[in-house]
Amino acid sequence: MSTVILGIESSCDDTSAAILKDGVVLSNIIASQKIHEAYGGVVPELASRAHQQNIIPVVSQAIKKARIKIEDINAIAYTRGPGLLGSLLVGVSFAKGFAIANNIPMIEVNHLQAHILANFINVPGEKKRHPSFPFITLLVSGGNSQIVVVKDYLEMEMIGQTIDDAAGEAFDKCAKVMGLAYPGGPIIDQLAKDGNPLKYKFSKPNVVGLNYSFSGLKTSFLYFLRDRIKEDHNFIKENLNDLCASLQKTIIDILLKKLILASNQTGIKEIAIGGGVSANSALQKAVKDCATKYNWNIYIPNLGFSVDNAGMVVTTGYYKYLAKKFIGLDAAAYSRTKL
Ligand code: KG4
Repeated sequence: MSTVILGIESSCDDTSAAILKDGVVLSNIIASQKIHEAYGGVVPELASRAHQQNIIPVVSQAIKKARIKIEDINAIAYTRGPGLLGSLLVGVSFAKGFAIANNIPMIEVNHLQAHILANFINVPGEKKRHPSFPFITLLVSGGNSQIVVVKDYLEMEMIGQTIDDAAGEAFDKCAKVMGLAYPGGPIIDQLAKDGNPLKYKFSKPNVVGLNYSFSGLKTSFLYFLRDRIKEDHNFIKENLNDLCASLQKTIIDILLKKLILASNQTGIKEIAIGGGVSANSALQKAVKDCATKYNWNIYIPNLGFSVDNAGMVVTTGYYKYLAKKFIGLDAAAYSRTKL
């Protein structure tokens, strides 16, 4: 008998559902919430309401696209945390209702583990190379910047993390200061393509070990712009591409310095990236350059599987299904947790 799992992701501002059959993700539907653009960041209450509106249509589309029937589904995997509690509650409540109605087991998924296991997603007709254990993942998203040693599918150890803001936050907040829309990361990525990354220098943190810090960069960027605008009102507009390219380079330099250190300290040359910021084209290029320079084998999630998506949740759920790690109806969502 085939194993068919429905996956649900609702931890922040993307409502997503995916269907996996025998280890292959047949559908991955994402409804991104545009409503937050007007506020320059995610408004938690609006996110919860949008999840409520989106969840049923997204699940219906995922089932339809996968060409399966509800009765074929053997288990439901859902993001239990970390994330925004109100957003998570929508996915968790849906999963519980679906599990009861269809008499199938539930699998809880840690959102951070799911971002890491995005590198194991199989899609129809493609034979993707998977990392071998142990490997290191640079997990960079809107809420997290971590370096993780992955010993097995479900055994991970965080060896470095940000002590303040995440890399995605640095992208988004600096974009906001420049008057760009939310989320700023992909916009900066585009604008940077026509800019000079060496034009401006911004402060880099001096944090011990494998930890990160991005709050100083954010402040130095803000003060730099404030001073330049005093001299020239149009400074941002006239230098937007160079500002984006220089900021992006600074963030990538910070990220790679510790990733290289982690590889040197552990001796691990199997290197993966994951999380929304891993979609950044310059970061991907920088990691590819490191692969040549340091003899790394690198792994980057396929397009669409870096940002929040249920494909990564259902793939993590599949490994838990194989390990028979199910969860009861009494399991509550959590906003904060470790790997
Ligand atoms: O993983 P994700 O979808 O949500 C979280 O779990 O946080 O990551 C969202 C973050 C946002 O900060 C967004 O600006 C950033 O990922 N992001 C990017 C790019 N695409 C998304 N940052 C830089 N370049 C990109 N191309």
